[in-house]
Amino acid sequence: MISGSTKILKKSGNSSLPKKHGLYIQLISIHGLIRAENLELGRDADTGGQIKYVLELATALAQHKDVERVDVLTRQIFSTKLDPVYATPIEPLSPGVNIVRLPCGPKRYLRKEALWAHLDSFSDAALQHVKKIGRIPDLIHSHYADAGYVASSISSLLSVPMVHTGHSLGRVKRERLLEKGLRERNIETQYAMTQRIEAEEMALDNAAAIIASTNQEVEEQYQLYDNYTPKRISVIPPGVDLTLFSPPTEHDTDTNIKRELSRFLKNPDKPMILAISRADPRKNIATLIKAYGENEQLRDKANLVIIAGNRDDIVAMEKTSRRVLQELLYLIDYYDLHGSIAYPKKHSSEDIPDLYRLAATSKGVFINPALTEPFGLTLLEAAASGLPIIAPNDGGPRDILRHCKNGVVIDPLDSKKMSAQILKTITDHKTWQQWSKNGILGVAQYYTWKGHVDNYIEVVKDCISKHQQATRTVVAKSKLAIAERLLICDIDNTLIGDRAALSQLTNQLKRMGDKVAFGVATGRTIQSTLRELKKWDAPIPDVFITSVGSEIRYGSRLTEDLGWQQHNDYRWKPKEVYNAMRDFNGLKLQHSGEQRRHKISFNVDPKKAPKIREIRQHLRQCGIHVKLIYSHEAYLDILPIRTSKGTAVRHVAMKWGFPLDQVLVVGDSGNDEEMLSGNTLGVVVSNHSPELKKLRGRDHIYFAENEYAKGVLEGIKHYRFLDKNTAQ
Ligand code: GLC
Ligand code: MG
Repeated sequence: MISGSTKILKKSGNSSLPKKHGLYIQLISIHGLIRAENLELGRDADTGGQIKYVLELATALAQHKDVERVDVLTRQIFSTKLDPVYATPIEPLSPGVNIVRLPCGPKRYLRKEALWAHLDSFSDAALQHVKKIGRIPDLIHSHYADAGYVASSISSLLSVPMVHTGHSLGRVKRERLLEKGLRERNIETQYAMTQRIEAEEMALDNAAAIIASTNQEVEEQYQLYDNYTPKRISVIPPGVDLTLFSPPTEHDTDTNIKRELSRFLKNPDKPMILAISRADPRKNIATLIKAYGENEQLRDKANLVIIAGNRDDIVAMEKTSRRVLQELLYLIDYYDLHGSIAYPKKHSSEDIPDLYRLAATSKGVFINPALTEPFGLTLLEAAASGLPIIAPNDGGPRDILRHCKNGVVIDPLDSKKMSAQILKTITDHKTWQQWSKNGILGVAQYYTWKGHVDNYIEVVKDCISKHQQATRTVVAKSKLAIAERLLICDIDNTLIGDRAALSQLTNQLKRMGDKVAFGVATGRTIQSTLRELKKWDAPIPDVFITSVGSEIRYGSRLTEDLGWQQHNDYRWKPKEVYNAMRDFNGLKLQHSGEQRRHKISFNVDPKKAPKIREIRQHLRQCGIHVKLIYSHEAYLDILPIRTSKGTAVRHVAMKWGFPLDQVLVVGDSGNDEEMLSGNTLGVVVSNHSPELKKLRGRDHIYFAENEYAKGVLEGIKHYRFLDKNTAQ
């Protein structure tokens, strides 16, 4: 245990970039099915492009000269219906990269909307992974809102910079769903939208950098967020896997997909107009079929190949896809396209590269008729295969065409011009050759993972060097360094209130000798803590977490944890907070002794004061990044974004090498919530205030039947905390 924590302490010294060793990067991508081989992309809504992106990024990162190790942290899943590899704790992906699977809630597969309540355990499991391998990452990069939530918490505990990629954003999704006519309430229950957006705000708030794929994503999507800070966002498009997508060669033989298409097409060698998308109305497949059906010359010159996902029984499909496919079948019949259109029922992901090559060999064209296209990975795949592209006049295609000059944009609603443009592309052979060549070169130059990683490492190095590495104090000898377990109690209404029970607790702790370390975590200042503990004859703490987690001190000399102070400085601008809070009704600053370097506290009149949610939003809109903690329906504490009793307890546990299941925490009110959640052993005394009601039924939180220190004793008994393999 001690050697583990020494390693951690050494690493977190004042050094900036590690010299001898390369970077250790953790990528976090929690939901869906992630494995090293045969990705099950499309198996469900959560196993899609993001997973491909993360794994390709991981592999490419590890190939960079400055990177030594990459771990992809994801959720561990046990299910008889799934490949057992999803339960394996560690699976190698590529040289220098491991997939690390961590427990998170129930063992079975859960869709991403059902993961929220379990993410704190994922965070704790991630910290335990760090402890186990004895190495703190240099960077944590989260993918999607759920991972953003986790990374916000562990990056702050480990004091390492965090980078975030949204992949898709809740505020945008909510708008789309509302447009589609869904009710706000249904969106909420089906998609846990508020939680998702809140996690996204938190991630944007904590991240040192955001990586986006296109400028449009920045301007139209991230801009919808309170914590939108354009200068922290870097646009780095993802790479195309050039080992998969490459131009045709003479060696291309008979492929499965070629045989499949020949079932549909009378003259399979005619130029192929290729479209690949999901069966989604926004993909606008119908206009493409119309364009083709209405243009005699085009029908004569070329075949149309539509890949619109896989299907078994159209009638059994979900309504929107069903309608798209029914319309497709109707239009084929209406224009009588039999023999010149192919629309395979099934294809595998290996068929896709073959398809692009086949289309390129036929001197065809790739068309994306979608109504909007913020990015357009298929366009890049087509380009890499030497296939010219036609795409909607939107952000993604415009970026791509600017770099690759391998096609044109069109108005996706104008079927006449669409067909004319397709015809022109496949009949003007000189331009076709030029576009084909430009696409291959352009992708190799602008859209490879190697290029992506080169830019990425630049951004990341900047983040790491700007990030103030916390210097941590080492106390020579402390019970904390040798104890096996740690008990942390809140003071008011928890530790104190019942003298007899408290003295019983003191005796129990004494009997444990060096086995169990003791600490308090309180909203009080250190001075008033010392006074109060003395007054009550309480046990002497080995660690003092005071002023709502913003200050940590060790031992009888009250040695301050300076690393923690530095950690708390992160983005903390107290003057701006005071200013922004001036005009609220119902809030009164507590007396000056309660205002600390990293804590600003108000007394709250709940009848007059605005909702905490409103205060939070106001502060964000002022560009202020802080944590708000509401307790006893009477106090509001404003703390640095990374500070709470919860992060303080975890900091102490990490630092001194206590596994979280050897840490018992007891509390009664709002400012205890964060330390009670997650994988610590939590106890709530029966005289708790209403804010904590919502924790009932959570894993690892025991609601005692007794009050004050009696409740503490009951909790200790419940977890058999003091009788585990201990000498008398
Ligand atoms: C303690 C502190 C006060 C804080 C409250 C809630 O009473 O003295 O400043 O607001 O706890 O955390
Ligand atoms: Mg209390």
